[in-house]
Amino acid sequence: MALTIGDTAPDFEAVTTEGTINFHDWIGDSWAVLFSHPRNFTPVCTTELGYMAKIEPDFAGRNTKIIGISVDPIENHEQWADDIAETQGSAPNYPIIADSDFAVAKAYGMLPADVSGDPTERTPADNQTVRNVFVIGPDKKIKLILVYPMTTGRNFDEVLRVIDSLQLTANHKVATPVNWQPGEDVIIAGSVSDDEAKEKYPDGWEAPRPWMRIVSQEKAEAS
Ligand code: BEZ
Repeated sequence: MALTIGDTAPDFEAVTTEGTINFHDWIGDSWAVLFSHPRNFTPVCTTELGYMAKIEPDFAGRNTKIIGISVDPIENHEQWADDIAETQGSAPNYPIIADSDFAVAKAYGMLPADVSGDPTERTPADNQTVRNVFVIGPDKKIKLILVYPMTTGRNFDEVLRVIDSLQLTANHKVATPVNWQPGEDVIIAGSVSDDEAKEKYPDGWEAPRPWMRIVSQEKAEAS
């Protein structure tokens, strides 16, 4: 069965550019973003890794750790990190997993179980399905999966926006509407009865339909 939202993120031990980690221990009480790459020295991925280094403080400010993974040996990661720094102006300031035995890619359903052999003999196109983003909560459950084609660079600002929504909705019984940005109105969750909503929001709410109840984020956080 493919991994989906709500599943426990597979745990693993792996060699990274910052030493060997146990993934769940590394996440600890934080949120985490795992973003994957088919091979090192690929141009689109190079821009992504550089951009993630630039916005790493935005993730840290959201109690979120970031970690890359690429299907290449650790020795190649050092050279690629230098190339990322030189071409993108920012060196990776987060670990990158060396998934040279394909174990993590397989555990996360990004490569078939029968893939084997020397990872350096595979082309980036052979591993083109290794271009996912997983957002994982402190409970180690998968909260978001994005799958990108190899020819389209990812939008990591969107990942920050989703984390804002996930963290808000984890703590308050609300949902966020289309293109929501922090500070904008939110939707009272369907699990909240009108009687409960009256207690939470004594000043009322906007209701363009009885099943669509809207309040400000400020009121939701105060309720
Ligand atoms: C890239 O440019 O990042 C890329 C190229 C081929 C396959 C996968 C990724």
